[in-house]
Parts: sequence; C-alpha cells; structure tokens
Amino acid sequence: MRFNIVTLLLAGVTATSAATTTSAASSASTCSPSSSDAKVLEFALGVSNFIGSFYNSTVNSTFGESNNATIKAYQKILFGLEKGNTLSSVAIEKVGAKASGFSKPKCDYKFPEVNSTQTWAQWAYRFEDTVTGAFIGLAGYTESPEVSFLMARLAAEHSAHSSLIGSRVNSTYFAQNSTSLVAAYGPAQILSTRNQTGSLGEYLGDCLTAPTSPCGQLRIGPLAATPSPSSGAASSSSLATSASKKI
Ligand SMILES: *[C@@H]1O[C@H](CO)[C@@H](O)[C@H](O)[C@H]1NC(C)=O
Ligand SMILES: *[C@@H]1O[C@H](CO)[C@@H](O)[C@H](O)[C@H]1NC(C)=O
Ligand SMILES: *[C@@H]1O[C@H](CO)[C@@H](O)[C@H](O)[C@H]1NC(C)=O
Ligand SMILES: *[C@@H]1O[C@H](CO)[C@@H](O)[C@H](O)[C@H]1NC(C)=O
Ligand SMILES: *[C@@H]1O[C@H](CO)[C@@H](O)[C@H](O)[C@H]1NC(C)=O
Ligand SMILES: *[C@@H]1O[C@H](CO)[C@@H](O)[C@H](O)[C@H]1NC(C)=O
Ligand SMILES: *[C@@H]1O[C@H](CO)[C@@H](O)[C@H](O)[C@H]1NC(C)=O
Repeated sequence: MRFNIVTLLLAGVTATSAATTTSAASSASTCSPSSSDAKVLEFALGVSNFIGSFYNSTVNSTFGESNNATIKAYQKILFGLEKGNTLSSVAIEKVGAKASGFSKPKCDYKFPEVNSTQTWAQWAYRFEDTVTGAFIGLAGYTESPEVSFLMARLAAEHSAHSSLIGSRVNSTYFAQNSTSLVAAYGPAQILSTRNQTGSLGEYLGDCLTAPTSPCGQLRIGPLAATPSPSSGAASSSSLATSASKKI
C-alpha cells in the first residue's frame, strides 16, 4: 500500500483514508518523491539521526543512575522522546527508499559535553528547537506532497519535544507578549557553525549538503509580506541563512 508509512507510524484511520483519497484524485508527475526530494530527505535524515544519536548517547548516562524519583520520572518521558526520534528516522528512510538517488548520509556527529541534567535539558531544548525549525524549512524545498507531508509531521513531532523540554528550562516559552510563531531555519543556516539555536554545523561533522530549492528563492522565517531588513532575502544564500520568528 502506497501510504503504508502512515499506518506504520502512529496515525489512525482518518489520516490513511484522507491520504488515499488524495492520491486517487491526482496523478501529477510530482506525486512520487523526486531526485530533488531525495536531497531533502538525505538532509532530513542527517538532522534526524543527529538528534536521535544525541538522545541515545546522553539520556542514559545523564539520567540513568539516579534514585531521585523526579529524575526517574523524567527519564521515562525522555525514553518516549527518544523513541519519537527513532521513529522520525525510520519514517524518513521509508520515504527515502522511494526517491531515486537517495542514500543514507554517513555522519560522525559531535556532541557537547553534558554533565548534569540541567545542561542536558539546555542542549536538548536548543537541538529540538533547531531540528523543528529545520524540518519546517525543508518543507519549503520539496517537490512531492508526500515529502511535504512527512516534513510537516516531523516538525510537529519535534516541536512537541521542544515545548515539553523548553517549558521547563525557559520561563518565557509561552509568553503573553510573544510576537512570533515557531522558528524556521533554512538548510544553509542549519549547516552554519554559530553557537546558537538554528545552527548545527559544529556537530554534524560536514556530512550534509544543503538541498536547493526547486522553485528558486525561498524566504525562510517570516510569513509577513515585508520581512525586517536583517532577515531580508536578497540572494539564494542569504535567503537560506535568514531566519526569523516574526509572523
Ligand atoms: C537509537 O537507539 C535505537 C535503539 O535503542 C535505535 O533503533 C536507533 O537507530 C538509534 N538512533 C540513532 C540515530 O542511532
Ligand atoms: C537506556 O536504558 C534503557 C533502560 O535501561 C534501555 O532500554 C535502552 O536501550 C538504553 N538506551 C541506550 C541507547 O543504550
Ligand atoms: C531530585 O532532583 C530534582 C531535580 O534535579 C531536585 O530538584 C530535587 O531536589 C532532587 N531530590 C532529592 C531528594 O535529591
Ligand atoms: C560540568 O562541566 C562544566 C564545564 O565543562 C564545569 O564547569 C562543571 O564544573 C562541571 N560540573 C560537574 C558536576 O562536573
Ligand atoms: C524562550 O522561548 C521564547 C519563545 O519560544 C523564545 O523567543 C526565547 O528565545 C527563548 N529563550 C531562551 C533563553 O531560549
Ligand atoms: C515580554 O514581557 C517580559 C516581561 O513580562 C519582558 O521581559 C519582555 O521583554 C517582553 N518582550 C517583548 C517582546 O515585549
Ligand atoms: C556555546 O554556547 C553554550 C551555551 O550558551 C556555552 O556553554 C558554550 O561554552 C558555547 N560554546 C562555544 C564553543 O562557544
């Protein structure tokens, strides 16, 4: 069945039948993931495996040896998030298998030193927030609806992770005076090495290549017609590196 990934990963009857109806209604050439989508999926998998590896290599060592009930309860939730991260990568690989030219990136990730539950949460928050924005950004680089659909789903999954952790480490996570939607980051910004949310270049070990947008310039970030000058998109490289949380 064409949308078997949907049934495999969490969704119910509603999503499956909706997807089937849609695919029956159209036979455009972009219904299957393209070779351009393969590049998007490779980038997505590299990012997904990064966050998955971060959890795999830090959760048990940071939260595993405590008798503290609060930490034990937290650890249980983190195993759930860890599973979500694994499912993200499984989903990308399944869709990638349908895209011609797709190959799994081979990455040698680096992780920051994490020696307390507090520093773990700070880094996990930064990385989940970054990964969420990366998937939102990648949704703007796709050709087939199936790949956009996957990116939307991954962004929602990781946004949930980010808000769960973020609401514990950031007292203004849901601020009443907020002026922005969830952040989006273009692939070039993700690859940059700035030490802040939105960048993973320090950690990815140069294993990924930014996909190119099939529709030319794409403004990542603002939804408004007139973005602020600092996030303006004058060239394809600046557009890919621009980011903003403003709606
Ligand atoms: C994380 O560990 C799970 C099993 O515990 C494994 O299935 C998954 O592939 C690992 N993820 C990464 C990115 O290595
Ligand atoms: C972490 O510990 C849990 C429970 O002891 C275990 O099931 C899981 O496989 C461990 N994860 C890794 C990545 O070693
Ligand atoms: C358990 O860990 C929490 C979070 O780090 C801490 O606030 C609390 O004081 C700890 N409880 C005990 C009994 O050590
Ligand atoms: C954790 O690492 C930081 C910086 O690397 C260091 O300042 C701090 O003392 C360490 N804390 C513990 C509990 O080892
Ligand atoms: C806290 O969350 C808000 C809303 O997402 C964000 O604008 C702000 O930068 C975050 N602060 C930190 C220190 O991460
Ligand atoms: C929102 O309010 C907090 C205090 O409640 C203040 O510190 C912060 O600067 C305000 N942010 C904006 C964007 O006005
Ligand atoms: C990156 O930022 C974190 C937190 O803001 C800080 O602890 C760390 O030292 C910084 N790393 C580098 C290489 O500047």
